[in-house]
Amino acid sequence: MQKSQRFEANPEGLRVVVLISGGGSNLAALLAAPQPDRYGVQIVAVGADRHSAAGLQYAREADVPVFVERISDHPDRDSWDRVLTDTTAGFRPDLVVSAGFLKLVGPRFLARFPGRYINTHNALLPAFPGMHGPADALAYGVKIAGATLFVVDDGVDTGPILAQTSVPVLDDDTEDSLTERIKYAERAQLVEQVALMAQYGWTITGRRVTTK
Ligand code: GRF
Repeated sequence: MQKSQRFEANPEGLRVVVLISGGGSNLAALLAAPQPDRYGVQIVAVGADRHSAAGLQYAREADVPVFVERISDHPDRDSWDRVLTDTTAGFRPDLVVSAGFLKLVGPRFLARFPGRYINTHNALLPAFPGMHGPADALAYGVKIAGATLFVVDDGVDTGPILAQTSVPVLDDDTEDSLTERIKYAERAQLVEQVALMAQYGWTITGRRVTTK
């Protein structure tokens, strides 16, 4: 029998750190959800790998602490990973959400937040991992695309899947139109799933993840 890992809900509200690199529309959706009383989620900090991440503005407007750790400010990737891990851990998160964070974290980070680091990807995994999910889906000619929320492991977009949401691919889609349709569904999924994790906790058994 496979061993289960259980992650209990935090009755005081799930403490969440969000990591971003870009526009931060997923972060904005999380911040817009009522917190922490009804939603049960508290965004305790937002981190980025670049100062230009436009989404940092959403955090500042919401008075959420922000931090930026650029790889180029560190002698090597390992020391970046150590500082990113320590800084994130300083906010005592129950959950860390990569919402368009364009860096692969290192082994220290994964070891510090096992089962507690999730990522949203704009394709229906295991199809189209990597940086260009919507473009790859379009080029392949699939008729259904979507987004996957998963628990990060040491591979690229390979971790156990929490949830998936699908959208149609239309005949006249461009990369931009498909990307936007996916992002709309992706944001709703992220908000809903984080709320479920906050309310019920979650369990990982092999590759199966359940929010109860
Ligand atoms: C999301 O679609 C995510 O799947 C991809 O990057 C996008 C981030 O968008 N990796 P935003 O910064 O949350 O607007």
